[in-house]
Amino acid sequence: MNAPVVIAEDLGRDYEVGGGMFSRPQTVRAVAGASFTLAPGKTLAIVGESGCGKSTLARMITLIEEPTSGRLTIDGIEATPDRWAELRTHVQIVFQDPYGSLNLRQRVGAILEEPLKINRRDMSAKERQEKAREMMRLVGLREEHYDRYPHMFSGGQRQRIAVARALMLEPKLLVLDEPVSALDLSIQSQILNLLIDLQERLQLAYLFISHDLSVVKHIADDVVVMYLGRPVEAGPKDEVFAAPRHPYTKALLSATPSADPALRKQRIKLQGELPSPLAVPPGCPFAPRCWKTQEKCRAERPWLEGEPHPAACFFPEN
Ligand SMILES: Nc1ncnc2c1ncn2[C@@H]1O[C@H](COP(=O)(O)OP(=O)(O)OP(=O)(O)O)[C@@H](O)[C@H]1O
Ligand SMILES: [Mg+2]
Repeated sequence: MNAPVVIAEDLGRDYEVGGGMFSRPQTVRAVAGASFTLAPGKTLAIVGESGCGKSTLARMITLIEEPTSGRLTIDGIEATPDRWAELRTHVQIVFQDPYGSLNLRQRVGAILEEPLKINRRDMSAKERQEKAREMMRLVGLREEHYDRYPHMFSGGQRQRIAVARALMLEPKLLVLDEPVSALDLSIQSQILNLLIDLQERLQLAYLFISHDLSVVKHIADDVVVMYLGRPVEAGPKDEVFAAPRHPYTKALLSATPSADPALRKQRIKLQGELPSPLAVPPGCPFAPRCWKTQEKCRAERPWLEGEPHPAACFFPEN
């Protein structure tokens, strides 16, 4: 097997919030205990509700933000801040909203060539231009798009530009933070198919972040389900989708629109609201919303463990 592109070991990220004249700062545990590996050519999906820590995890893996705990290895190199500059070309990120992430005053050609200008001083202007045009072809943009501005494109095409820019430095890993969530359904599948095609050609590893399980089903090899900053289930996608072990995963899956009416009937409605990350309940953080909760769940926190794939639950399914 190929050496992993990413090894995350017990990664965590805390934020201090609040704290003023009359109040003490509080700690938000945005991510805790995140462990996984990701191999070249594979896609690991991170799923969970809004606020569960997906983007925080994405920022740590993309070396935008330093973890407050744990260890991150990218391409065999431990990602301590002194190695960030060197490792940053190995990892690139694509955001949900290409409008926000592209410089609207630059033409497509300039947008694509900028990372080369900064990181590849050895390349001539002509070489940069050739590389940009080659990348445009690869993501399905046309020759004449080179001189256009982002606002002249549709949402799907703008996301193609964002993907092309992310690939200019030939990274091994793309972190995709809700890359199709802002697009129409028909365009979503075009972009997903483009990503799948690029992955095959370039042996890219994807960390694919999404709250949409129907999208994840299409693209992921493995899945990590997060709840209030912590992984609660992790395993091969087929296994997790066919036989979820954690009640939370089961509820998420039951809420995913399904073509099969028999499955639609079994929709599980979660009780209550997602607790505030400032007041994470003791014991299992999912206990207040779970239909299987027993005394033990409110007292102790379950470890991520068990067969055939791990789940953090005292009373898992199957
Ligand atoms: N810079 C920050 N300072 C303080 N708290 C933060 C910061 N960034 C994130 N958080 C908190 O950390 C938690 C996780 O946030 P994050 O943005 O990672 O969630 P998410 O899963 O990406 O949500 P969404 O699906 O809405 O994008 C939230 O409670 C959020 O309020
Ligand atoms: Mg997010």
